[in-house]
Amino acid sequence: MPKSVRRVGVLTGGGDCPGLNAVIRAVVKSAIHRYELEVWGIEDGFQGLIENRMHLLDWSAASNILTLGGTILGSNNKCDPTRWAVRKGKGEVEFQDVTDRCIDHIHARGLEALIVIGGDGTMTVASKFVQRGINCIGVPKTIDNDLWGTDITFGFESAVAVGTDALDRIHTTAASHHRVMIVELMGRNAGWIALHAGLASGADVVLIPEIPYDIDKVCEYVAWRSQRGKRFSLIAASEGAKAVGGQQVVAKIDPTSPDPVRLGGIAAVLAKQIEDKTGIETRFTVLGHVQRGGTPVAADRVLATQFGHAAVQKLSQGAEARLVVKKGCTITDCDLTECAGKQRLIDPGHPLIEAARDVGTSFGE
Ligand code: F6P
Repeated sequence: MPKSVRRVGVLTGGGDCPGLNAVIRAVVKSAIHRYELEVWGIEDGFQGLIENRMHLLDWSAASNILTLGGTILGSNNKCDPTRWAVRKGKGEVEFQDVTDRCIDHIHARGLEALIVIGGDGTMTVASKFVQRGINCIGVPKTIDNDLWGTDITFGFESAVAVGTDALDRIHTTAASHHRVMIVELMGRNAGWIALHAGLASGADVVLIPEIPYDIDKVCEYVAWRSQRGKRFSLIAASEGAKAVGGQQVVAKIDPTSPDPVRLGGIAAVLAKQIEDKTGIETRFTVLGHVQRGGTPVAADRVLATQFGHAAVQKLSQGAEARLVVKKGCTITDCDLTECAGKQRLIDPGHPLIEAARDVGTSFGE
């Protein structure tokens, strides 16, 4: 090893997703089995660093967790130690920079590096630790698949599988009742989940944030299908979809979160508009956190294992401030600080969009 790293911390930050435990398992097992590294599990993301909550992960801690959903470490999507929200009563919140406290805890435990498993919010926080001299190796996680620098994040394929299954089930009941049925999928500002699940299930209309829709075009398409004898339509809508010139539908603002906007509610808005304009009964289903739970699909288990192993391997080779990524078929790495705060959205010229259009899918344009 170029640098004799012997003890590392691992944390899971941001919204959870299937495959987190598979990464933790790969990190711990390859650290112990191959690299003689000691791994400490930091609890509840960066909050565990603030509150000095961490514990040693031995071989048995990493056993029997490959297929387990969630994260054995706990996670947190509201924690940036440079802007730690402290409640002051009466709903008031004060923000404090508690980075020094975290760094004291890192040094007191003798942690020489952190493996941070998360999305863009987690990488943004990790970048701030890098600037303070803490070596961080990132592992790209999120169902949204929107982390800049990698072609795919783990968790995405599992969310697509859930979305596809839901759309398939909604398809049959839509056909029986001659209804328009809308399924609202997660993804924040990126339409990857809706695009993939929509394509996989043959949704008639796919609405994504990257291609603002015209509601009249959506209604014309649904009515045209009906006139041709297809008396139902299936719509996959991203939670972040918006009309041309319109705004995303916000479910909640959480001022204690570094990313305070929680999207949600577009399906209800669309259902009312479509039913009013076409006269066809229109119903909706919001999948929500169902997409984040449960066991990872095989592809995510494999990817998570590759990412977790690569993080330890690269650390042992002296890597500093790198994000493990997948480019094409290759597991490689890139500058972690460059990825922070950037979202990988769908290019409207993406080949999948072209393929979808060519098989008759409407994007409401
Ligand atoms: O980033 C993952 C994600 O599930 C998004 O798709 C969604 O917009 C958001 O997190 C929901 O966050 P929360 O769990 O705080 O409601």
